[in-house]
Amino acid sequence: MAANSSFLAQPLRLILLSFVLAACAGNAHLGLDTRQSAWKTLAPVPAGAIHEHSTVALSTTQLAIIGGVLQTGGVIDSVYIYDIPKDSWQKVASLPVTINHANAAAVDGKIYVLGGMTGASWAGTPKCWAYDPPSNKWTSIASMTTSEARGSAVAGVYNRTIWLASGKTGSGGESVATVSAYDVITGQWLTSIPEKAKRIPGGRDHGGGGVIGTKFYQIAGSLGPISNRTDTVFVLDLEDLAKGWITAKGRMPTPRRGFATAVVGKKFYTFGGEGNPSPESKGVFKEVEVYDTETDTWASLAPMNIPRHGSSAAAVGGRIYIPGGGTASGTPATAAFDVFTP
Ligand SMILES: *[C@@H]1O[C@H](CO)[C@@H](O)[C@H](O)[C@H]1NC(C)=O
Ligand SMILES: *[C@@H]1O[C@H](CO)[C@@H](O)[C@H](O)[C@H]1NC(C)=O
Repeated sequence: MAANSSFLAQPLRLILLSFVLAACAGNAHLGLDTRQSAWKTLAPVPAGAIHEHSTVALSTTQLAIIGGVLQTGGVIDSVYIYDIPKDSWQKVASLPVTINHANAAAVDGKIYVLGGMTGASWAGTPKCWAYDPPSNKWTSIASMTTSEARGSAVAGVYNRTIWLASGKTGSGGESVATVSAYDVITGQWLTSIPEKAKRIPGGRDHGGGGVIGTKFYQIAGSLGPISNRTDTVFVLDLEDLAKGWITAKGRMPTPRRGFATAVVGKKFYTFGGEGNPSPESKGVFKEVEVYDTETDTWASLAPMNIPRHGSSAAAVGGRIYIPGGGTASGTPATAAFDVFTP
């Protein structure tokens, strides 16, 4: 029922659209988009209030969430798959370790977890696993080097290679500039990444980004303390690694960390985040800002209905799914799950 409520009859949609356009007209000069209808509530995350989990798009009808931290502070090993047409969650095989800030991606219907932070101490791990849905099993795959162990890296997939940039070496650890790449076909980590591509121009953790076209983007995040938020967009052309990373002209309007990112078309959508200095914000951002990779420009959209950090997002069929997240700096969290239609 709920899943169909957005498919209004065409004439009614047109009438509603005219209202929305009329309502937006007053703000047109600000470049603001005030449509609240862009958000829709879905079935809550079964693990309960959660943050620092990772979300990946698994197929055209499914996404998955991996690990995370409960509101009680406990780190979990659970993995859930969400079925979009059914609006329902299913628990699948757990990871061999409890994990948060997992560096995760999906390639050809499998989930890859390439390090993250494990255990009660949130220690950065170089260990990696792959999940195969038909057999409902996690298997160990080649680890990254110990010096590259980290969580909260930005992940992107290109030519069946998973690229990771930045991250944090563990709870209370360092923000790193490290770039690593895992080839899903050979099952090996690339060892021949040119020096200029091997490091982003500055250390970052809790940033966003991914791959659009042939380019890998690392967006914002913090360097050192939570309060030291950045606004940079770093870009690597994966077809010209020797050229190395460049810093784009476009700067994130509201510097943030711990925001959720997803790609629709040639744009990165960014949601919420952590490090808001204003006391009434409880340390959390509500901003929704979009980076157009074709024009190298940012725009602001209407804010999130539930401002949060430490969530993560996945786009499927042009819609962006955002399960859970922290509702205040630290552990307060929500199980709420919503979808954003750009
Ligand atoms: C904060 O970030 C800036 C770069 O944006 C960097 O130069 C500075 O060292 C950072 N401060 C700390 C305490 O890490
Ligand atoms: C990616 O795949 C395309 C098409 O197979 C190929 O032409 C290109 O060289 C590959 N690029 C890299 C960096 O592996």
